[in-house]
Amino acid sequence: MLGQQPLEQRLALQREYMEKAAELLCERYEHPPLALVHSFGCQQNQSDGEKLRGMLAEMGYGFTDQPEQADLALFNTCAVRENAEDRVFGNVGALKPLKKQRPGMLIGLCGCMMQQEQVADRIRKSYPYVDLVFGTHALYQLPELLFRRLSGEKRQFRGGGEGEIIEGLPLRRDGKIKGNLPIMYGCDNFCSYCIVPYVRGRERSRKPEDVLAEARQLIADGYKEITLLGQNVNSYGKGLEPPIRFAQLLRQVAQLPGEFVVRFMTSHPKDCTTELIDTIAQCDKICNHIHLPVQSGSNRILKLMNRRYTVEHYLELIDYARKQIPGVTFSSDLIVGFPGETYEDFQKTLELVRKVRYSTLYTFLYSRRSGTKAASFEDPVPEEEKSRWFRELLDTESQIREELQQAQVGSAERVLVEGPGRTGPDWLCGRNFSNDIVEFPGSKDLIGQFVDVRIQRAQNWALFGSFV
Ligand code: SAH
Ligand code: SF4
Ligand code: F3S
Repeated sequence: MLGQQPLEQRLALQREYMEKAAELLCERYEHPPLALVHSFGCQQNQSDGEKLRGMLAEMGYGFTDQPEQADLALFNTCAVRENAEDRVFGNVGALKPLKKQRPGMLIGLCGCMMQQEQVADRIRKSYPYVDLVFGTHALYQLPELLFRRLSGEKRQFRGGGEGEIIEGLPLRRDGKIKGNLPIMYGCDNFCSYCIVPYVRGRERSRKPEDVLAEARQLIADGYKEITLLGQNVNSYGKGLEPPIRFAQLLRQVAQLPGEFVVRFMTSHPKDCTTELIDTIAQCDKICNHIHLPVQSGSNRILKLMNRRYTVEHYLELIDYARKQIPGVTFSSDLIVGFPGETYEDFQKTLELVRKVRYSTLYTFLYSRRSGTKAASFEDPVPEEEKSRWFRELLDTESQIREELQQAQVGSAERVLVEGPGRTGPDWLCGRNFSNDIVEFPGSKDLIGQFVDVRIQRAQNWALFGSFV
């Protein structure tokens, strides 16, 4: 069986399939076939999307974002995001008529949602026109699945697997300025609401030498921002020999020569150390911004969520970071309406938000995920009530955000220029170290460079200024 061979052999086999698929596609199409690859989820999922594109490019595919042009449409799914399933099935349904017109078109579904057996079963039964279905652990087997289907075998399903670290897959990155760099995969935390540990498998860390080699390559290719990715980067290094902690890896990346900045996500508060905060303070190339998801401001709810820290501990971390890192800003994820949450609990979340004054909040209405612990908790609060709380949170957030942005007026900020602005034809757009959008007039030659911008005004979605 495939799954029982050593990884090396399985990878070699996939390389063979890649070549065979390339030959077959070459015979079949006069022009390079086009693939549409859409990733629905988090940065980790986007990063997987870059590998899918890399493998497809190696097999001879070009890329399109128009479904009508696509010879292959591949949806890389997420199991967390609100209404994830409905959106994916809606998108797949919309492809049915296209496939009817062009029967040679292939449709594939992969990623976190497809790692769930019941979802794969639903597709097997109700979506006969889907050709390929594979979970996160089978990502590297795309060449084989594609080759088999292209050579006339029946539609391909591949689930299961344990999740390994696969090095050396070809990559086709989404941008040229900012690069994602996964340092670990999976999660062992089992927060009671979360499906990720079930669809991403156990936590496993890439070797520091592989991470550093990829970082060097990104810098050599001209990338100016590197984001180290993991579901809980603070527990990086578990099981590696010789032992290494995340703060050490982060410092090693930040010490590489070149002009670039480093970010990282996600940092779990239970494992966030003073060593990590000191490292950010000491290294110029690490952005003075920390994404530190708190989820709730109530200790009772945090306990039910299995987050394993208290609000007091969290606030101590924030205080320590504020003392050590001048100008540090924070962002967070928050869940509203966790089963059993009361309006009093929710008020504690608001209180925390007012204390920390986050520059950005990612807010989620709780949504039940079958298979997780919280799915069996009693959930008496009606959805309309939860939605009212949610709006209250958004109002508080936008008020704080406005105050924070107004306070920036007059200051000069380092900005990485990402592309043309929305304000006018001669405007540019970029982000400062806190990840706020900054717009200013300037020449297109500045795209991909760091510049200093004096902030002159702030308006809801962005800061506006002029190049110093
Ligand atoms: N590993 C990261 C987050 C991964 S999921 C961390 O621990 O912070 C991204 C966010 O989705 C979570 O932080 C949480 O806020 C939200 N989320 C996850 N499962 C959810 C659910 N069942 N309902 C609502 N929000 C959820
Ligand atoms: Fe999910 Fe918690 Fe793991 Fe984040 S740390 S991925 S929220 S289980
Ligand atoms: Fe990310 Fe969604 Fe999977 S948040 S890890 S793509 S379930």
